Amino acid sequence: MKRDAFRGAGTAAALALGLLSAACAPVTERAPPLARAAAPAAPVLLTPDARDASSHARPAEARVAHVALDLLADVAAQRLSGTATLDVVAAPGAREVVLDAKGLEIARVTDDRGRDLPYTEGDVDPNLGAPLTVTLNGARRIVVAYRSAPGAAALQWLTPEQTAGKKQPFLFSQGQAILNRTWIPTQDSPGIRQTWEARISVPAGLRAVMSAERLTPEGEPTDRGGAGHRAYRFRMDKPVAPYLIALAVGDLDFRALGPRSGVYAEPATLDRAARELVDTEKMIAAAEALYGPYRWGRYDMIVLPPSFPYGGMENPTLTFLTPTFIAGDRSLNGLVAHELAHSWSGNLVTNATWADGWLNEGFTSYFENRIMEALYGPARAAQEQALSWADMEAAFAELGQDAPGTRLRGTGGPDDGASGIVYDKGAVFLRTLERSVGRERWDAYLRSYFDRHAFRPMTSARFLADLRANLVRGDRVLEERLLLDRWVYAPGLPANAARPERTAFAAADRAITVFNAGGAAAAAPYAGWTTAERLRFLNALPSELPAARLTELDRALGLSASGNAELLFAWLRLAVANRYEPAVPALERFLLAQGRRKFVRPLFEGLMAQGDWGRPIARRVFARAAPGYHAVTRDSVAKLLAGRAIGGRGIN
Ligand code: BES
Ligand code: ZN
Repeated sequence: MKRDAFRGAGTAAALALGLLSAACAPVTERAPPLARAAAPAAPVLLTPDARDASSHARPAEARVAHVALDLLADVAAQRLSGTATLDVVAAPGAREVVLDAKGLEIARVTDDRGRDLPYTEGDVDPNLGAPLTVTLNGARRIVVAYRSAPGAAALQWLTPEQTAGKKQPFLFSQGQAILNRTWIPTQDSPGIRQTWEARISVPAGLRAVMSAERLTPEGEPTDRGGAGHRAYRFRMDKPVAPYLIALAVGDLDFRALGPRSGVYAEPATLDRAARELVDTEKMIAAAEALYGPYRWGRYDMIVLPPSFPYGGMENPTLTFLTPTFIAGDRSLNGLVAHELAHSWSGNLVTNATWADGWLNEGFTSYFENRIMEALYGPARAAQEQALSWADMEAAFAELGQDAPGTRLRGTGGPDDGASGIVYDKGAVFLRTLERSVGRERWDAYLRSYFDRHAFRPMTSARFLADLRANLVRGDRVLEERLLLDRWVYAPGLPANAARPERTAFAAADRAITVFNAGGAAAAAPYAGWTTAERLRFLNALPSELPAARLTELDRALGLSASGNAELLFAWLRLAVANRYEPAVPALERFLLAQGRRKFVRPLFEGLMAQGDWGRPIARRVFARAAPGYHAVTRDSVAKLLAGRAIGGRGIN
């Protein structure tokens, strides 16, 4: 049968499903009429519907509306085991529900009265996993007894040695984009929102936290696990996309930052983390002043061990953060503004499928910059915009100015969009809209957009229709000026793109000119610069430099010893590109000390590009570092080393 989410089963089913829960907003729009817009020069790609090619679910027939997990963290076996009880909303006549499962060991499926339900596990797709099809026999609540596999891609189990405290093990999950099916048997598609609850039993000495209301902060006795185990309960009463269900277990302390915010971290990390996050309440207030109320109750964060493969992950009520954002001077806290902004763009209004990922990340990158401007002023915001613009240009240079991969709306799988496009071109699009209609009108529109579509999935086509209905409002001159369809569906950069201020990096650019003319590295007023200016300087240095000049740079600017991960990364990239041997120890330390893919992958890529010099280093370091990396990072580096890095640039 054709998997046509929300469509195939007809109006009756869509109606029935839609009536049962606000989470079921049927996505039935057709492509917008392109004809009315100025005819685009390049061919445009239409979005036919919101079918999710990354999920086996057939939500028009039967969809999961609520998930209740009861799981035991078995640290020795590196498994979560227990039950997932799913509330299913079925269309009239629907006989089965199709779930996503990857590597799960299913013991049994029953209804809520304990009667066995027949189920089949279909063919395993290497990316998507297998469809788990359960015959409902009239049941509306099903109980799946299962356990996750030790290698589940969403879960990283850390030994005590891999943590900051070295005494207790640690576990964290990462759901985006399609990994949660390796520990939760549900419909793993961002358009299928689900409320959820959980009870997680963990060994004594560990605390469990999840991306939901934390009902038992200190835990409670449990019948599961051995003596001393404690259970933690959680509840998310707002419908969320299932990739946002997240869990962390470890030796965690908590520190309040404000009335509705705080930070969890290992005791050894908590002080530094809390200092870096002092502006959190102000960020929440700024975000609310821009685009409406924060609707999730608390905004807490957890700083994870350094193997966390991303900078941050916007898990509702509990952002997950890499410790590499801790620079000591809050200069990398744009990351927090970013994850916080996702509480609107992403968690409230959510890309219906991963092809529309720019609706999450492009909106959020724009919103992040507005928060930074509100807190720290237009100069810092302009510098960060200029860095983002450079990232976009780098993506165009790498992919080709008019390559298909430069479209905002993606055509590939969940990891196919280059971040320079999805994040940075996406943000430039919104900034272009802002400048075209004026900030006041734009902000009013965006605020109403979040209100009107709160807790609903969004597609590129529906966003454009919404823009036309509520911002353009039939103004033909404006419609022609905006080039909306071109921005979303065509490759390349439309001519009306809002450019960053030329003067944002005047000082750093002057210093580059001096250095390139043979000036001493020490002549650059590096010490007085912002982190953004330093990054600009390092990234604008010529990619080929003699060893003597690199030595001079390292000595004058203290690059190999930098405690700022972004600066260290920029320096190490340059060093690798020049086969600069003296930086290899610092490179090796960095690759062993953290596993953030955004840093790790390009460095290995750089090494692999350096033939006889770099490849042996890459292999040697990877052999040592790989056991500590998360699967997300390890797998993409392994592909590089095997020479299979084609395509799938992936986000970060
Ligand atoms: N949602 C993303 C992380 C993500 C993207 C996970 C794609 C899995 C697949 C998160 O909000 C993000 O964008 N993180 C960035 C932060 C940065 C842009 C400030 C990161 O991890 O570097
Ligand atoms: Zn993001």
